[in-house]
Amino acid sequence: MAAEAVRLQKVIAQAGVASRRAAEQLILEGRVTVNGQVVSALGTKVVQTDEVAVDGVPLDGQEKPVYYLLNKPRGVVTTSHDDKGRKTVLDLLGEEVTARVYPVGRLDYDTTGALLLTNDGELANQLMHPKHKVDKVYTAKVKGLATLPALAPLKKGILLHGKRTAPARVAVEQVDTKKQVSYVRLTIHEGRHHQVKEMLAQVGFPVEKLTRDRYAFLDLQSLPAGDYRPLKHDEVKRLKAGDYRFLRRK
Ligand code: URA
Repeated sequence: MAAEAVRLQKVIAQAGVASRRAAEQLILEGRVTVNGQVVSALGTKVVQTDEVAVDGVPLDGQEKPVYYLLNKPRGVVTTSHDDKGRKTVLDLLGEEVTARVYPVGRLDYDTTGALLLTNDGELANQLMHPKHKVDKVYTAKVKGLATLPALAPLKKGILLHGKRTAPARVAVEQVDTKKQVSYVRLTIHEGRHHQVKEMLAQVGFPVEKLTRDRYAFLDLQSLPAGDYRPLKHDEVKRLKAGDYRFLRRK
């Protein structure tokens, strides 16, 4: 029987080199070879006996999967490399992190909070897929005096760039009438560019500060900004098993 042919980006992700999406980018950039030949077409499939390498490094030099939760500070980009030379989330990692980890999803330069880093492409891919509905809980400091009725459209979903957002959970945490600011908690499971800022701006509350307090069931607890910790075995198990909710369903 012929060996099963598998898409190249899936093989790269399974080897823990990059998420599936990032693997596609590596292919498009001509950084992937199959049996010594550069392959830059996304539909390419390979079999187990094919020798796949990224940047000349064969995939069979596989790393052990590692998982970290970082409390991202402001003023750091959520990419592995920044063309403008700004500090990246990877610059925050100490020497003990030798694996080639990358961020799962993105937080803006000025957003703080919970960010997962891993070299497990399969799990990263699973978590980033909107169909898995990973709860992401944000606290936003917004201009203005927020009320639940004013935020209600976000519960149903609003049009952002022609596409409706999924229903969000919303709560008003605090309203400061003196300073004319409020603190709003928003739980979403999508990850569109500037999504929380745009959602709140659209209902009349521009965001001044944004923090992601929780990612799935993971929260920052006593992790100071800029620090990170490895996930516990049980936490990895829960993520792999699809436990993505901040509150467990009864
Ligand atoms: N939504 C935003 O607007 N920014 C982030 O960093 C994350 C979610």
